[in-house]
Amino acid sequence: MRLCRYLLKNTIPNQIEYYSKFSPSPLSIKQFLDFGRNNACEKTSYLFLRKELPVRLANTLKEVNLLPESLVQRPSVKLVRSWYMQSFLELLEYENKSPEDPDVLYDFLKVLIEVRNRHNDVVPTMAQGVIEYKEKYGFDPFVSSNIQYFLDRFYTSRISFRMLINQHTLLFGGDINPAHPKHIGSIDPSCNVPEVVKDAYETAKMLCEQYYLSAPELKIEEFNAKAPGRPLQVVYVPSHLFHMLFELFKNSMRATVEQHEGKTEILPPIKTLVTLGKEDLSIKVNSLQIV
Ligand SMILES: Nc1ncnc2c1ncn2[C@@H]1O[C@H](COP(=O)(O)OP(=O)(O)OP(=O)(O)O)[C@@H](O)[C@H]1O
Ligand SMILES: [Mg+2]
Repeated sequence: MRLCRYLLKNTIPNQIEYYSKFSPSPLSIKQFLDFGRNNACEKTSYLFLRKELPVRLANTLKEVNLLPESLVQRPSVKLVRSWYMQSFLELLEYENKSPEDPDVLYDFLKVLIEVRNRHNDVVPTMAQGVIEYKEKYGFDPFVSSNIQYFLDRFYTSRISFRMLINQHTLLFGGDINPAHPKHIGSIDPSCNVPEVVKDAYETAKMLCEQYYLSAPELKIEEFNAKAPGRPLQVVYVPSHLFHMLFELFKNSMRATVEQHEGKTEILPPIKTLVTLGKEDLSIKVNSLQIV
C-alpha cells in the first residue's frame, strides 16, 4: 500500500513529465493513407503508437493540471483524469515489449480497444464537470475563455488520438469492413461529399421532426470545379464530415423553425452549396428567411 502510494506520488508524475517533453507528431491524411495502402506493417504501427499515444496522453494530462484547481476537483473532471491516467499506465506496459512477439501485438490491439472504450464518454463527462463548475463558481469571462481554449485543444486532441487508435485497430484487427471494403481504416479515399451531406441532413431532420413536428427540406447544389461533370469526391474521414454537418444542420433547422413559429408559410428549405476547387472543399449551409 505504502509502495503503491509512493509510486503514485513519484513514478507516475515522473513518467508523465518525461513523456510530456515530447511533442505529438502531426500526421496528415496523406500519411495515414500511404501507410495504410503500402502493405501496412503492424510492427511499425505498434512501435510508433506505443510511444506516440503516451506522449499525447501525457501532454493532455499536463494541460488538465493547469486548469483552475476548483475545476480539476469536480468529480467528473477527476473521473476523466483517472481515465487518462489509467490508459497512460496501460500503454506504458508496452515500453519495452518486443514487436517480434505476436502475443504482444495481439495484446496491444486489445488494450487499444479497451482504451478507446474507456474514453467513449469523455466529451459529456468533461462538459458535465464544466457545467457543475460554472453553477458553483459563477461565470468569469477571463476564466471562461481560458477553459474554452483548453476544451478546444482537449477535444481536438481527443479526435486525433482516437483516429490513431482506429487506424491501427481497423487495419490490423482482422475485420474487413464489408460495407466499405475500399476504406483505409476510417478514411474513405473517395468520400462522396453530397451523400454525406444528405445523410447528415436526414439524421438532423429526424430529430427536428421529433422535437418540432416539422422540418425544412434540403436543397443541395453541387459545383465541381476540380473535375467538372464528375462526382464530387474527396479523401476524407466520412464520420468526421458527418458530425460537422449534423451540427450545422441542427443549428440551421432550429433557426428556421423558430423563426417561422406561428407563421403559415411553409418552411423555406436549407440551401447547401458544395464546392470542390483545386485546393479546397467548401460547404455552405444557408438557412433562408421569409421576409
Ligand atoms: N444557423 C443559425 N442561425 C441562427 N443562429 C444560429 C445558427 N447557428 C447557430 N446559431 C446561434 O449560435 C448559438 C451557438 O450554436 P452552437 O451550435 O454552438 O450551440 P447550440 O446549438 O446552442 O447547442 P448544441 O449545438 O450544443 O446543441 C446557437 O444557440 C444559436 O443561438
Ligand atoms: Mg448547435
